[in-house]
Amino acid sequence: MRPFNLGRKTLIFAAATCLLTCCDRAKDASPPLELNQMPVVQLRAMLKGFDGDCRPDSDKEHGVLPPPAEKAIPPDAICISLVPPEKFQSRGMDLPKAIASRRSIRSFSQAPMTLEELSFLLWATQGVTAEMQGDESHEPTRLRAAPSAGGRYPLETYIAIRSVEGLDPGLYRYLPNTHQLHLVRRDSDISAGLQKACYGTPFVADAAAVLIWTAIPYRTEWKYTYTSHRMIAMEAGHVCQNLYLAATSAGLGACALCSYHQSSVDGLIGVDGHNEFAIYLACVGRPSEGKK
Ligand SMILES: Cc1cc2nc3c(=O)[nH]c(=O)nc-3n(C[C@H](O)[C@H](O)[C@H](O)COP(=O)(O)O)c2cc1C
Repeated sequence: MRPFNLGRKTLIFAAATCLLTCCDRAKDASPPLELNQMPVVQLRAMLKGFDGDCRPDSDKEHGVLPPPAEKAIPPDAICISLVPPEKFQSRGMDLPKAIASRRSIRSFSQAPMTLEELSFLLWATQGVTAEMQGDESHEPTRLRAAPSAGGRYPLETYIAIRSVEGLDPGLYRYLPNTHQLHLVRRDSDISAGLQKACYGTPFVADAAAVLIWTAIPYRTEWKYTYTSHRMIAMEAGHVCQNLYLAATSAGLGACALCSYHQSSVDGLIGVDGHNEFAIYLACVGRPSEGKK
């Protein structure tokens, strides 16, 4: 039920304005304000809910086809198959114990992680766990391990690998649909570069791998326009908590990281910082003796 009745002309005017506003938003070329240039009330508004329907103004409502939930790879991409979930060895720790013993680990041994461990962590964070038939594009919706508002899956997972058995050090991206890794580039300096981009945080260079979640906001904006941004931040939290619990249950350690230089991390992973940007990082590896 709408709170008040609108006349037909008003409705047409409102619809036209909505459409223009929507297009304006998408085309807006003015540089975005930095966080420290925005009034605090505005920043808080992004975190709050909305006293109205956020959807009528969305591209979905305007009949625009949905963007894909996974970025395409180049035709000549090198892809590495990960260990499938049915082949994971027993993790050995039950959920209550993993919840109770989860801590942020900031001291890692030099020992590499196995490919199976990395496969488990990626599956636990963004892996496809079920398929549901047919959205507007008639593509099946692939449901993932962590919840996502409207099944929009706005996050991509990049992995800066220092030491995982069988993989060259470098930058990779997880492909949830096929449970594969896409080798973005070999780079033996990736950990050092990332440590610099994290203001020198020491354990960043010691972690066997650093997961870098990026947001592609339009995937969620397509459906939820105004309230998308809080949803995307919530989702990054869900994913990172899954990482913590999966790592703990596998005898590994993880530590969330928000302390990073935005444009340096975006530059390091090769995203434009506007349509896609880093939103959350987490280090993983084998805890140093006594730090489990
Ligand atoms: C959103 C978020 C950002 C964080 N950023 C960092 C960080 O940049 N560096 C760090 O050492 N720990 C970071 N942490 C880990 C927290 O410091 C840690 O969760 C907190 O001290 C509680 O300890 P526990 O995780 O062991 O229970 C972050 C945690 C969250 C949830």
